[in-house]
Amino acid sequence: MNSKALISASGIGPAVLAFSLAGIAQPYPDTPGPDGVRKGGTLFETLPAPRIQDPVNVDTRRVRAYPEQPPTIPHTVRDYQIDLNSNQCMNCHTRIQTAVSGAPMISITHFMDRDFQVLAAVAPRRYFCMQCHVPQSEAPLAVGNTFKDVDILLRNGDDSEGEAP
Ligand code: HEC
Ligand code: HEC
Repeated sequence: MNSKALISASGIGPAVLAFSLAGIAQPYPDTPGPDGVRKGGTLFETLPAPRIQDPVNVDTRRVRAYPEQPPTIPHTVRDYQIDLNSNQCMNCHTRIQTAVSGAPMISITHFMDRDFQVLAAVAPRRYFCMQCHVPQSEAPLAVGNTFKDVDILLRNGDDSEGEAP
């Protein structure tokens, strides 16, 4: 092994890189940060993280924004474990528990493998529920949203959304 390989393997490489990035930052300390969740500040400033919002916990299912949307979760999911050995969502949402839990059953698509073969239990590709279903909070919007429900568009006869820019 030559000495260059030894230097980068020992972690000196990343240190040198970090040092040179700091060098680039020096002449532009006021570069504004991206206009994302943490508004204001500069690119090189560390601002305090916004407070994590409380999740909405209600008993009502929400309207879906479009038919294929995975419905959002109306209840809290704190400490519901999902791993190789257990899936706590399925304690309530599995077919056989729904009479007791009052939870809606996972729909038939959740039993299908990628060839649309219906399996006896939840398909592995639908096992990790929160890949698709998310709880909601009352947090202020990080970015604006001009989404219009298709039913509203149909009702208004508004087809301008479909035109090429
Ligand atoms: C203790 C039982 C219970 C557990 C555990 C549970 N749920 Fe629920 N879930 C419900 C009930 C009951 C509803 C119906 C709305 C209500 O009453 O809150 C519901 C509603 C939902 C809905 C909305 C369905 C719709 O059509 O709008 C989704 C999505 C959902 N749960 C996902 C999950 C996920 C993901 C987990 C695991 C992280 C989970 N649930 C764990 C009981 C449960
Ligand atoms: C790959 C994305 C994906 C994953 C993973 C997933 N879902 Fe869904 N889920 C959807 C979509 C999309 C819908 C709405 C259309 C449909 O039924 O397929 C839905 C619908 C639902 C509904 C409403 C059923 C109804 O008939 O109203 C419930 C409840 C639900 N999912 C629970 C779960 C639970 C619990 C898990 C974990 C075991 C899970 N989902 C995993 C995408 C997903």
